[in-house]
Formats: sequence, C-alpha cells, structure tokens
Amino acid sequence: MATIGKDISKAKTLLEQGKLVGIPTETVYGLAGNALDSDAVAMIFATKNRPDFDPLILHTSAMERVHDFVKEIPFPLNLLASKFWPGPLTLLLPKKEIVPDLVTSGLDTVAVRVPSHPLTNELLSELDFPLAAPSANPFGYISPTKAIHVNDQLGDKIAYILDGGDCEVGLESTIVGLEEGEVTVYRLGGLDLNAIREVVGEVKVMTHSSSNPKSPGMLKSHYSPTKPFILGKLEDLVLEYSAKGIPFAILSFHQKFPSLDRSKQIQLSQTKDLNEAAKNLFAAMRALDTMDVSVILSELLPEEGLGRAINDRLRRAAVQ
Ligand code: TXA
Ligand code: MG
Repeated sequence: MATIGKDISKAKTLLEQGKLVGIPTETVYGLAGNALDSDAVAMIFATKNRPDFDPLILHTSAMERVHDFVKEIPFPLNLLASKFWPGPLTLLLPKKEIVPDLVTSGLDTVAVRVPSHPLTNELLSELDFPLAAPSANPFGYISPTKAIHVNDQLGDKIAYILDGGDCEVGLESTIVGLEEGEVTVYRLGGLDLNAIREVVGEVKVMTHSSSNPKSPGMLKSHYSPTKPFILGKLEDLVLEYSAKGIPFAILSFHQKFPSLDRSKQIQLSQTKDLNEAAKNLFAAMRALDTMDVSVILSELLPEEGLGRAINDRLRRAAVQ
C-alpha cells in the first residue's frame, strides 16, 4: 500500500525522480506524473490500465505558465480562463511542441487546467514541470474523492498519496473547447454550465459519443460501479426488486425508505443541495458497490446546476 501524508517535498522529490503520486484537487484525486517526461506519462497509462487513445489533462499552477505549453488561449476561452482558473475548468488548447504526443494521444490540442486545491497548487508552483494527471482510478471506474479511494485501488502501484482531505467539488472538471468558432462543452463537470454561459453566452454541449470519442469521458459507459446500477422511479424500483426477491441498495437524492434497511440506503443531500450531492456522489457509489447486495437502485436529480453533471455520471454508470 502507498504511504498517505501531507508532505509536499516528498511528493516533489518522487515526481522529480519520474515516479507517480496521488494528488488531491478540488474536483477528484489525480494520478500525477511529470507531463514532459514520456516515461512517466507511459507509466500513468499502464497504472490506470487506460487505453492510449485517451489523452491526459496537463495541470499547472498559474495562467501565465499555461502559455509555456499552448500556442494561444483564443477568445473567448481566455475569458473563461481568467474567470475560473484556478478551478474546475479544463480548456482544450493548441499545443506547443514541448508537450509529448503521448499526453495528447497524438491530438494537436492539449487539455489544460489550473486546479485550486491549496496543497496541489503549492506542489505545482514548486515544480519546474507541469503534471499530467487523470483521475486516480482504474479506467472506467468511479473517480476517487478521498485519499483512501486512491489507496484502495492503486495503492500497490504508487509510492505516495498526498492527502488533501475530501474533494470539495466531487465531480471532474468541465471540459471546454472551440469547435468551428463555437464554445463547446465536451464533458459536463464541476463548473456549472450556467456559470460558463454568463461569461460567453450560449454554448454547444457535445457530451455524447460512441466508440472513438474525442473525450473518452464521453463514452456511454464510464464512471461505473461493478454492480448493476438501475435508474428509475425509486418507489417503483423498490416494489419491483422486492417482488423479485433481488437484494438491493438505494442511492437517492434525499428520500428515505423507513420500512427498508437503513444501512443499505444513502441520501446524497438531505437538504436537497445539488453541490452537496455532487460532493457526496462518488463516495456514495463506491460505498454502495461494496455492500452485500446484487443491484443498486437510483434516480435522476433535478436537471439544473450541478444536477446536469450528476445526472450525466448517473446515466453513464447505468449503461452496462
Ligand atoms: O477534474 C479533473 O479533470 C480530473 C482532475 C484529476 O484534474 N482529471 C480527470 O482526468 O478527470 P481524466 O483523464 O480522468 O479525464 C480527462 C478527460 C478524458 O475524457 C480525455 O479524453 C479528455 O479529458 N481529454 C484530454 N485531452 C483531450 C484533448 N486534447 N481533446 C479532447 N479530450 C481530451
Ligand atoms: Mg477519469
């Protein structure tokens, strides 16, 4: 198992040696390595069991440093960068030569973000290279929002996890680029669409794709628990699965079922707060996945604010 701690200089030393470290961000934990070192980047793909057509996000400490890796931040993406960095926004930008092709899977754009977690921001500002960091989970599984999640799944493959506590946002960053001059959202995430619209006006949302996606976060089945994950009207599902005699657990927005086993039910937010629900989502999905049941029953949340990104993850989890 990996060591878990708050030692930034230890993380820095390991990364400088070309090793991988689990890092906290405000969205989810990342599996980080030196983005300019192709061997470290190759190790990220191998450790996650990630297909090499799925490019990585480059993380750096400040907007000024982004220009070392990209040719430009075209209008109006520059407005989004100024407004939301550091924060849960990833921009697809034309890459400079210095970024290895392995990071971008051969694409001529690189995904970049400036995360806002204080520990990781300090680490990034002390390093003289950017970090490539996908979410620190095996490919296709639920992203980690606690250091222990990283340890559970990748702890035998990495030396150190920087412990930044529970991720504040709990959903991956929102991925935005330009397509034929139009601001386009490729992955719904921790930055609400409405916040983006307030800065750049109407945006195109292109988050559905099939087998060869521009962004594999677009794969229909992704972010999935191992158990069957069924979406619908919870009252109906509860009746149906009770009648069938199939043991189930319940993931609801706020509703409780008093007549059923309480230990097999998780509410995402008792106060119906979508930000709280986002923060709790992945830990809840992981907990339900380890329960002694055959299926997980769940429901969609209101399609507003972070509810859209939550529903996106719930729908993908439900595709088998
Ligand atoms: O919040 C986050 O973004 C987290 C934290 C650790 O920063 N990272 C994350 O990385 O979610 P990952 O690798 O799990 O998801 C990155 C997504 C993938 O779906 C990938 O296909 C897409 O970004 N992506 C990366 N570079 C791209 C590019 N040049 N064009 C299109 N999509 C790209
Ligand atoms: Mg991921």
